[in-house]
Amino acid sequence: MQETVIVLDFGGQYNQLIARRVRECGVYCEIMPYTAPLEKIREKNPKGIIFTGGPNSVYDESSPHYTPEIFELGVPVLGICYGCQLMAYALGGKVISATDNSVSEYGKTETKYSTDCALFEGLPDSGVSWMSHRDYISEPPAGFAVTAVTDNCPTAAMADPERRLYGVQFHPEVNHTEHGKDMLSAFLYKVCGCAGDWKTESFISDTVEKIRDTVGEKSVVLGLSGGVDSSVAAALISRAIGKRLTCVFVDQGLMRKDEGDFVEQTFTKLFDMNFVRINCQDEFLAKLKGVTDPEEKRNIIGEEFYAVFWNKIRESYGDGYFAQGTIYPDRIESGKGDAAKIKTHHNQVGVPKDIKFDGIIEPLGDLFKDEVRAVGEKLGLPRELVWRQPFPGPGLGVRVIGEVTAERVRILQEADAILRDEMERCGYADKMSQFFAVLPGVKTVGVMGDARTYSELVAIRAVTTDDFMTADWAKIPYDILGRVSNRIINEVENVNRVVYDITSKPPGTVEWE
Ligand code: XMP
Repeated sequence: MQETVIVLDFGGQYNQLIARRVRECGVYCEIMPYTAPLEKIREKNPKGIIFTGGPNSVYDESSPHYTPEIFELGVPVLGICYGCQLMAYALGGKVISATDNSVSEYGKTETKYSTDCALFEGLPDSGVSWMSHRDYISEPPAGFAVTAVTDNCPTAAMADPERRLYGVQFHPEVNHTEHGKDMLSAFLYKVCGCAGDWKTESFISDTVEKIRDTVGEKSVVLGLSGGVDSSVAAALISRAIGKRLTCVFVDQGLMRKDEGDFVEQTFTKLFDMNFVRINCQDEFLAKLKGVTDPEEKRNIIGEEFYAVFWNKIRESYGDGYFAQGTIYPDRIESGKGDAAKIKTHHNQVGVPKDIKFDGIIEPLGDLFKDEVRAVGEKLGLPRELVWRQPFPGPGLGVRVIGEVTAERVRILQEADAILRDEMERCGYADKMSQFFAVLPGVKTVGVMGDARTYSELVAIRAVTTDDFMTADWAKIPYDILGRVSNRIINEVENVNRVVYDITSKPPGTVEWE
């Protein structure tokens, strides 16, 4: 059985980061909401439990709490921030609200560690930690020793090694905490006794075996979008069952230049599978004729996509298994507030009632995006696919502002291809999170040769971001922008002007529609 650590989520903003760090240490972990019953946790037979931070105060009755029985399971627990306060409170320590703000701490904080503690053994006895708290532990519970302090915080860490209970007021999962990852690793290996069996190679071999066991002699059909997740899922299933996998790729003609051909070549040449490409640009354009409203375009493209996809499935493959590239963040429950609900995500497609599959296979359902990429690389997927930038489901349909026509899609594809080419050449492509061209639907006057022109305007959008919730416009050097502009105007027919979008998010969004 895979050794597992449970991250119990109390609504902290770093819950996924904690899980990622644990996995980076080579230990598999799962996030569970604080509403999960103790029985569910026990069933997982965890090697350790980590309480996340959270925005609440422990003495507020409506704050998320957990039954103190969890400390009697004999399983090591590490409480982080709110999680540490919760542990102290539940076991009889004293947690105080810093009403005068004298002891609240935010940001980088000089911290002194007791290197006798298993978490800090072998590390420097002082350093910077990342704090974000108003309440603090004035007295740890009986049996606990204080193992770290700051000028303002009398209990920056506490430990009861006998019961294997540990707490840190700071955030070891955040890079700003010096040696934070070493502290987490110490908890996992020294306290929990993990062996560290979570590796990409073993994930691949275990998953391939599981797929073979589940599928038996039957077949699998997968909707391939050309995005990272469905591509990696396809490569993995192909390794397990070869030609009994059929990938259906609906090319609505709204992908970037040559992207449809690239996807087809990759999956027909590099992998053993049946690959079905449905070229349906004309049908999509017919449906989009005269439509300019962004939401209406999105709806039409989405509905048409699934209509084409499911019709193909009805025609030829009605049984066996259905696979999709759902990844872990698509399906975890969040502990935020009491509205702990599973988010409906665009990856989780509903199968129409008239189509009966034996079951649904989601081979990447336990992985984070960077782990999916590592698996993709190990399986031999090309770099362009594995490190592909996010691309909206409705494709260029939402980057051609106004009516989507074949000619306007062509102009945008050409301009976008030049932008990509220049960014690759100057080594700037990897410095940005996302960049693309937009056709705003504005015509402007220009002069070319000696003649007046009246042609389309192209806009360039490029952003840097960690999470796409907020983003900065990328500060691309002027000479690179100049080259991109020259080439687009010279090489793309019907374009006579290029502008650069210098709007951050918020107030703008990344996409224009
Ligand atoms: P916005 O425009 O909301 O974009 O700032 C944030 C990120 O999401 C991508 N995006 C989409 N992805 N379907 C998708 O799968 C969509 O309809 C969609 N709209 C935006 C966008 O490219 C950016 O990475």
